[in-house]
Amino acid sequence: MKTFNIPVHIDEFDVEELPASVQELRKAAEAARERAYAPYSGFKVGAALRLDNGIIVTGSNQENAAYPSGMCAERVAIWYAGAQHPERRILQMYITARSSHAEVNHPVPPCGACRQSMLEYEVKQKHPIEIWFRGETGKVWRTRSVENILPLVFDGSDL
Ligand code: THU
Repeated sequence: MKTFNIPVHIDEFDVEELPASVQELRKAAEAARERAYAPYSGFKVGAALRLDNGIIVTGSNQENAAYPSGMCAERVAIWYAGAQHPERRILQMYITARSSHAEVNHPVPPCGACRQSMLEYEVKQKHPIEIWFRGETGKVWRTRSVENILPLVFDGSDL
Protein backbone atom coordinates (compact mmCIF):
# COMPACT_ATOMS: atom_id res chain seq x y z
CA MET A 1 0.00 0.00 0.00
CA LYS A 2 1.07 3.56 -0.66
CA THR A 3 -0.33 6.70 0.93
CA PHE A 4 -0.47 10.03 -0.91
CA ASN A 5 -0.90 13.34 0.89
CA ILE A 6 -2.06 16.11 -1.42
CA PRO A 7 -1.50 19.55 0.13
CA VAL A 8 -3.78 22.54 -0.45
CA HIS A 9 -1.93 25.85 -0.40
CA ILE A 10 -3.76 28.92 0.88
CA ASP A 11 -2.35 32.41 1.44
CA GLU A 12 -4.09 34.59 4.03
CA PHE A 13 -4.27 38.38 3.81
CA ASP A 14 -5.69 41.29 5.75
CA VAL A 15 -7.96 43.24 3.43
CA GLU A 16 -5.66 46.28 3.58
CA GLU A 17 -2.85 44.14 2.15
CA LEU A 18 -4.61 43.38 -1.14
CA PRO A 19 -2.96 44.79 -4.27
CA ALA A 20 -4.84 47.65 -5.96
CA SER A 21 -6.10 45.45 -8.80
CA VAL A 22 -7.59 42.98 -6.30
CA GLN A 23 -9.17 45.81 -4.31
CA GLU A 24 -10.92 46.82 -7.52
CA LEU A 25 -12.12 43.24 -7.99
CA ARG A 26 -13.24 43.09 -4.35
CA LYS A 27 -15.38 46.21 -4.77
CA ALA A 28 -16.94 44.81 -7.94
CA ALA A 29 -17.74 41.52 -6.16
CA GLU A 30 -19.21 43.33 -3.14
CA ALA A 31 -21.43 45.41 -5.42
CA ALA A 32 -22.49 42.25 -7.27
CA ARG A 33 -23.26 40.56 -3.94
CA GLU A 34 -25.80 43.27 -3.17
CA ARG A 35 -27.57 42.43 -6.44
CA ALA A 36 -28.01 38.79 -5.41
CA TYR A 37 -31.52 37.38 -5.43
CA ALA A 38 -31.53 35.25 -2.28
CA PRO A 39 -34.97 35.52 -0.67
CA TYR A 40 -34.92 31.89 0.54
CA SER A 41 -31.48 31.55 2.15
CA GLY A 42 -30.72 35.18 2.96
CA PHE A 43 -27.16 34.29 1.93
CA LYS A 44 -25.93 36.71 -0.71
CA VAL A 45 -22.84 35.85 -2.73
CA GLY A 46 -20.98 38.01 -5.25
CA ALA A 47 -18.23 36.97 -7.63
CA ALA A 48 -16.04 39.13 -9.87
CA LEU A 49 -13.72 37.83 -12.60
CA ARG A 50 -10.87 39.68 -14.26
CA LEU A 51 -10.25 38.76 -17.89
CA ASP A 52 -6.89 39.09 -19.65
CA ASN A 53 -8.04 42.27 -21.41
CA GLY A 54 -8.80 43.92 -18.05
CA ILE A 55 -12.58 43.56 -18.29
CA ILE A 56 -14.32 42.68 -15.03
CA VAL A 57 -17.32 40.33 -15.21
CA THR A 58 -19.56 39.83 -12.18
CA GLY A 59 -22.26 37.46 -10.99
CA SER A 60 -24.45 36.89 -7.96
CA ASN A 61 -26.50 33.96 -6.73
CA GLN A 62 -30.00 33.70 -8.17
CA GLU A 63 -32.41 31.60 -6.15
CA ASN A 64 -35.68 29.99 -7.15
CA ALA A 65 -38.80 28.81 -5.33
CA ALA A 66 -37.93 25.41 -6.78
CA TYR A 67 -34.66 25.42 -4.82
CA PRO A 68 -32.42 23.31 -7.11
CA SER A 69 -33.25 25.63 -10.01
CA GLY A 70 -31.25 28.44 -8.41
CA MET A 71 -27.63 29.11 -9.25
CA CYS A 72 -24.46 30.12 -7.39
CA ALA A 73 -22.71 33.44 -7.98
CA GLU A 74 -19.49 31.84 -9.22
CA ARG A 75 -21.18 29.88 -11.98
CA VAL A 76 -23.32 32.84 -13.03
CA ALA A 77 -20.08 34.84 -13.43
CA ILE A 78 -17.95 32.18 -15.09
CA TRP A 79 -20.64 31.13 -17.55
CA TYR A 80 -21.32 34.74 -18.43
CA ALA A 81 -17.59 35.15 -19.15
CA GLY A 82 -17.61 31.95 -21.20
CA ALA A 83 -20.68 33.08 -23.14
CA GLN A 84 -19.70 36.71 -23.73
CA HIS A 85 -15.88 36.53 -23.89
CA PRO A 86 -15.04 33.02 -25.07
CA GLU A 87 -11.61 33.99 -26.43
CA ARG A 88 -10.40 35.70 -23.24
CA ARG A 89 -8.53 34.03 -20.43
CA ILE A 90 -9.89 34.39 -16.90
CA LEU A 91 -7.05 35.50 -14.64
CA GLN A 92 -8.66 36.01 -11.24
CA MET A 93 -11.87 35.55 -9.33
CA TYR A 94 -12.89 37.30 -6.09
CA ILE A 95 -15.79 35.86 -4.03
CA THR A 96 -17.64 37.49 -1.14
CA ALA A 97 -20.69 36.48 0.90
CA ARG A 98 -22.92 37.94 3.55
CA SER A 99 -25.91 36.57 5.42
CA SER A 100 -29.04 38.25 6.72
CA HIS A 101 -28.82 35.95 9.80
CA ALA A 102 -25.28 36.50 11.15
CA GLU A 103 -22.02 38.18 10.25
CA VAL A 104 -19.96 36.05 7.88
CA ASN A 105 -16.45 36.69 9.16
CA HIS A 106 -14.63 33.70 7.66
CA PRO A 107 -13.53 33.17 4.06
CA VAL A 108 -16.29 31.49 2.03
CA PRO A 109 -14.86 29.15 -0.62
CA PRO A 110 -16.73 28.15 -3.78
CA CYS A 111 -18.89 25.02 -3.45
CA GLY A 112 -17.84 21.77 -5.06
CA ALA A 113 -20.05 22.16 -8.13
CA CYS A 114 -18.64 25.66 -8.73
CA ARG A 115 -15.07 24.37 -8.40
CA GLN A 116 -15.80 21.71 -11.01
CA SER A 117 -17.33 24.32 -13.35
CA MET A 118 -14.42 26.72 -12.81
CA LEU A 119 -11.90 23.94 -13.41
CA GLU A 120 -13.33 23.42 -16.90
CA TYR A 121 -12.22 26.93 -17.89
CA GLU A 122 -8.82 26.57 -16.24
CA VAL A 123 -8.22 23.45 -18.35
CA LYS A 124 -9.68 25.06 -21.48
CA GLN A 125 -7.51 28.18 -21.26
CA LYS A 126 -4.37 26.32 -20.09
CA HIS A 127 -3.78 29.01 -17.49
CA PRO A 128 -4.54 28.95 -13.76
CA ILE A 129 -7.36 31.05 -12.32
CA GLU A 130 -6.31 32.73 -9.08
CA ILE A 131 -9.16 32.77 -6.55
CA TRP A 132 -9.55 35.24 -3.69
CA PHE A 133 -12.35 34.71 -1.19
CA ARG A 134 -13.69 36.31 1.94
CA GLY A 135 -16.90 36.54 3.95
CA GLU A 136 -18.34 39.97 4.60
CA THR A 137 -15.51 40.82 7.03
CA GLY A 138 -12.29 39.21 8.22
CA LYS A 139 -9.34 37.64 6.46
CA VAL A 140 -9.04 37.11 2.74
CA TRP A 141 -7.77 33.78 1.44
CA ARG A 142 -6.07 33.25 -1.89
CA THR A 143 -5.45 30.10 -3.83
CA ARG A 144 -3.35 30.21 -6.97
CA SER A 145 -5.48 27.84 -9.03
CA VAL A 146 -8.78 25.98 -9.08
CA GLU A 147 -6.91 22.70 -9.21
CA ASN A 148 -5.30 23.55 -5.85
CA ILE A 149 -8.70 23.48 -4.14
CA LEU A 150 -10.03 20.59 -6.25
CA PRO A 151 -7.41 17.87 -5.89
CA LEU A 152 -7.92 14.67 -7.90
CA VAL A 153 -9.61 16.62 -10.67
CA PHE A 154 -11.95 14.99 -13.13
CA ASP A 155 -11.56 16.63 -16.52
CA GLY A 156 -11.77 15.91 -20.23
CA SER A 157 -8.57 13.85 -20.11
CA ASP A 158 -10.42 11.25 -18.02
CA LEU A 159 -13.00 10.61 -20.74
N1 THU B 1 -23.97 29.90 -3.01
C1 THU B 1 -23.18 30.52 -3.92
O1 THU B 1 -23.62 31.47 -4.59
N2 THU B 1 -21.92 30.09 -4.07
C2 THU B 1 -21.36 29.03 -3.40
O2 THU B 1 -20.24 28.63 -3.70
C3 THU B 1 -22.11 28.42 -2.30
C4 THU B 1 -23.54 28.79 -2.18
C5 THU B 1 -25.36 30.34 -2.86
C6 THU B 1 -26.37 29.34 -3.33
C7 THU B 1 -27.59 29.71 -2.51
O3 THU B 1 -28.29 30.73 -3.20
C8 THU B 1 -27.02 30.29 -1.23
O4 THU B 1 -25.65 30.58 -1.49
C9 THU B 1 -27.10 29.34 -0.05
O5 THU B 1 -26.53 28.10 -0.35
